[in-house]
Amino acid sequence: MKENNKWEIISHSLEPSQLMVDETLFHTANGYLGVRGNFEEGYVDQYDTIRGAYINGFYDISEVKHGEKLYGFTESKQKIINITDVQGIQLFIAGDRFSLFEGETLAYKRTLDMQAGVVKRHIEWKSPKGHILEIDILRMASFVKPELFLIDYTIKSINYEGEIVLVSTQIGEVSNYFNPNDPRVAAEAEKHLTVTQIRREADIDLVYSETNASNLKVTSAVKHVVSTRCHIESTSDKSSLTSKIKFNIKLGATERLIKYCIFTDSIRYSDCNQSALCSMYEVTEMPIQKLYESQQAYLDSFWKVADVVIEGDETLQQGIHFSVFQLLQSVGKDKYSNIAAKGLSGEGYEGHYFWDTEIYMLPFFVLTDQKIAEGLLSYRYEKLDEARKNARIMGHQKGALYPWRTISGSECSAYFPSGSAQYHINADIAYMFVQHYLVTKNVDFVINKSAEVLFETARLWMDTGHYIEDTFRIDAVTGPDEYTCLVNNNYYTNVMAKYNLKWAVKFYEVVKKYGDITHLSQSIGLTEEEVSTWEEAYQKMYLVYDEKLDINPQDDTFFSKARWDFSNTPKENYPLLLHYHPLHIYRYQVCKQADTVLAHFLLEDEQKLSTIQNSFEYYEKITTHDSSLSTCIFSIMAARLGDTHKAYDYFMQTTRLDLDNTHHNTKDGLHTANMGGTYMGMVYGFAGLRIKETGIYFNPIIPEQWDNYEFKICYQNRMIKVHMSKERCIFELSQGEALIIDVWGNKYQLIDTIIIDLDKRKESENA
Ligand code: BGC
Repeated sequence: MKENNKWEIISHSLEPSQLMVDETLFHTANGYLGVRGNFEEGYVDQYDTIRGAYINGFYDISEVKHGEKLYGFTESKQKIINITDVQGIQLFIAGDRFSLFEGETLAYKRTLDMQAGVVKRHIEWKSPKGHILEIDILRMASFVKPELFLIDYTIKSINYEGEIVLVSTQIGEVSNYFNPNDPRVAAEAEKHLTVTQIRREADIDLVYSETNASNLKVTSAVKHVVSTRCHIESTSDKSSLTSKIKFNIKLGATERLIKYCIFTDSIRYSDCNQSALCSMYEVTEMPIQKLYESQQAYLDSFWKVADVVIEGDETLQQGIHFSVFQLLQSVGKDKYSNIAAKGLSGEGYEGHYFWDTEIYMLPFFVLTDQKIAEGLLSYRYEKLDEARKNARIMGHQKGALYPWRTISGSECSAYFPSGSAQYHINADIAYMFVQHYLVTKNVDFVINKSAEVLFETARLWMDTGHYIEDTFRIDAVTGPDEYTCLVNNNYYTNVMAKYNLKWAVKFYEVVKKYGDITHLSQSIGLTEEEVSTWEEAYQKMYLVYDEKLDINPQDDTFFSKARWDFSNTPKENYPLLLHYHPLHIYRYQVCKQADTVLAHFLLEDEQKLSTIQNSFEYYEKITTHDSSLSTCIFSIMAARLGDTHKAYDYFMQTTRLDLDNTHHNTKDGLHTANMGGTYMGMVYGFAGLRIKETGIYFNPIIPEQWDNYEFKICYQNRMIKVHMSKERCIFELSQGEALIIDVWGNKYQLIDTIIIDLDKRKESENA
């Protein structure tokens, strides 16, 4: 169905089931604002739709109901809410209402243009009375002016002369989508937004709304600009505004309506009503072409650094562009927001931020746009107090525990075994602060933010773990694999906690050397003695290992469990979480996603290669990949272990997951971590990039299906271009000072360009 065009996603589908998927794939977002790809004119009544628009980090609070509520259980949660619906435009021609499901659709094409940052619909339509129109609708969420979303609606008359009526709406009465049978979306219908006032100021229509429980405000403003003389009749009721726009069209002529929509909220703006008006004046004063040009310029400079090029496979290239573009559409660029599990494309996971950000999405930003990366890390720094509070709720005297899922900083997980018990999120966040330091060598950031985060997360491990037989152990936590819950010594958690503790000690030294350790220590009550306890704990961290099998078991009891009976599990019973009671799943050796294998990717120097290899083979057989965070990691590790075919197969499953709706729930929003995983599959997988304290390493391979691939990364004030073909690997230093890089185990000094023949790889394999 999708045409192969590496910069465009194209759909011709009007199938009811695909329409909801396309609402997600063709959403327009800019990190602040996201609008689903609903049709302006709607579908037909019996078709399902998730009609919505969202602001990143803009939430309401709802009660979490527990049948049996025990101490410390989450009582309330934040959720992203659907805001004013500005998408509506109905077209009437000689009494016929335009709909793709009435009259005759002569041509229909929807395009996401990832170079220009716009979504277009091109329609050729014959009305029931036989009048033919060409309708082109363009949508844009501006990256330069994030409060702006616009609909640029043009109508060309082919065989009609007379009146056209456009009815444009702004509807304040909106609610969120729900499905009581799917734990991945909200279970109940709730009303979250109440319109407090509607106003018309000159030719700007305004809707003021307030959330029901979180006391936040949002303002939406709409202005219509029409290309020809028209008559506008405005009406309103208590929660919506309608503009009936009438004009005459000549035979063969084209007329145009631009619907400018502005959203502002009280989290970011002290007076969001006034800010909405000001923004509207600002954007409507300039020619629209300027807005398109600024979008284009923004994207040109984005792609210049962020593009990952593959030659030899257009379909895959399209998937990679899509992933990278969606990361940009999803990422919050201020300290109030982060990246939701579904970006701004839908309501799945209720707009919550998870560990997905640090382990799957931040790598892309750290390597391509450090300002955005620092914004994401700063968000965690800003939420440190909330994480301290969360730690106290969970019974810890000291330290900070980041919530498993959240928007404003407190825990929103209602099911603790596979939610709040995932303490590894603390170490994941710490890991990314360390990666940021290794990539940027930004000491000021460590002094001002990273050190405190690492100290407080390190403290949490000390408060959670304990010593037995002179080893430090961590009990009753859940690792990344959500099919195995509440275990002792989850390998992933322990090895990541070890790293967290180790780097807390190192950051202590960095601040001591370059900053004001006395001030920081005093502010959080830290002593040198306490730091030395971190050192001892990481040195004595217990990492579960089975000597006979030369494998890291996932946790203390994983290998003594029965294996899941895969051969008698019907295909339609996947994902298992929708078909089996969780307790049933927990009793078996079955993994939802990469767990130990992920630990081996993130911290490969902790184990021998043979252990990594054996573990990979073991876990591969029992992993269902029911989570979209899994295949990318298996691809990276297959590449690490030299199995290019397998790496390629897993990568193919990763890259087009949403485009081909392979998890069957793209309608609820994109799998944004998987988008980050696609990028990682290229850079850490095929190119074998690792950034360690000892330097930068590459171990590139290339699948036989591709001719070559290429990407750029920013590293310690440098820009390095990597180009890999079947014959050689070329590294180019396009910016910054010379450095030593490690390629296939050999050191090279990169001054401007080095070309390394594939024979070198063979040599290093034979050595
Ligand atoms: C995965 C988690 C992930 C969450 C949000 C779940 O299905 O198991 O690891 O954080 O989705 O993407």
